[in-house]
Amino acid sequence: MPGLRRPLRHEVRRLACPAGHAFDIARHGYVNLIGGRRRHHGDDVRMVAARERFLAAGHYRPLSSALAELVAAHAPAPDGVVVDLAGGTGHHLSAVLDAGPRRYGLCVDASTAALRRAARAHPRAAAIGADVWASLPVRDATAGVVLSVFGPRGVAEIERILAPGGVVVVAGPCPEHLEELGRLVGGVGVDPRRPERLAASLRRFECLERRTVTARIRLGHEEVHAVLAMGPSARHLSEDRLGAAVAVLPERVEVTVAVEIAVHRLG
Ligand SMILES: C[S@@+](CC[C@H](N)C(=O)[O-])C[C@H]1O[C@@H](n2cnc3c(N)ncnc32)[C@H](O)[C@@H]1O
Repeated sequence: MPGLRRPLRHEVRRLACPAGHAFDIARHGYVNLIGGRRRHHGDDVRMVAARERFLAAGHYRPLSSALAELVAAHAPAPDGVVVDLAGGTGHHLSAVLDAGPRRYGLCVDASTAALRRAARAHPRAAAIGADVWASLPVRDATAGVVLSVFGPRGVAEIERILAPGGVVVVAGPCPEHLEELGRLVGGVGVDPRRPERLAASLRRFECLERRTVTARIRLGHEEVHAVLAMGPSARHLSEDRLGAAVAVLPERVEVTVAVEIAVHRLG
């Protein structure tokens, strides 16, 4: 989008750029910079509501805590901006900001439903609608930390926006993550070559730390429904099929959480 590399001016209820573009601040508090024909819409209302329910129940708290610890350990400074790419409802970004009282956050996502939540997720966070495969609405060399949790990311733009010494913290599923539920719905498995693909995409970066967060969680039917409805299975399963798959489960199911977090700095 032309003009977005130049600073936006905060006017009454909108952001304006020197080239004459203006972007309204939505009633819910976010600004959507995705104009014209969208290539990516992000998660729909149903998926976002399911994600919000599941995360609010605290099942991924160990993941949020690990992200906050790793940011505190490796960020170049205790202040500055944390940009959460495809940050969804802003849940993990909030945990990072709670642990870093001098940091500010920017949640970037393509989903309007997610942005509505993210705009209210934390008093020190803002939410921006943008496609993370395209140009990011962030100035060169300004982000101390970029987070990428279970979402898409464009590495060239991460390189551009990272401040000197800045780090990118990427979290994604291990093959055994939620495997009990994947079998149930014939769901989308985790690519076993994910670690190699990640290393190749970040080849210009130095890996500072890798950590695997593992837990066994016990879920009732509503929680199983939520975790399936917020993930990739939701895209190929109707509400009826999802409900039917969950209905035949025992009352409580034990499920594996296994997420790998990698912290990289531009070499
Ligand atoms: C699996 S969710 C993860 C959300 C969040 N990081 C978390 O862990 O709670 C993936 C997110 O990516 C967003 N998304 C998908 N494609 C996108 C794109 N091209 N640009 C921006 N966001 C995108 C979706 O809307 C969704 O919020």
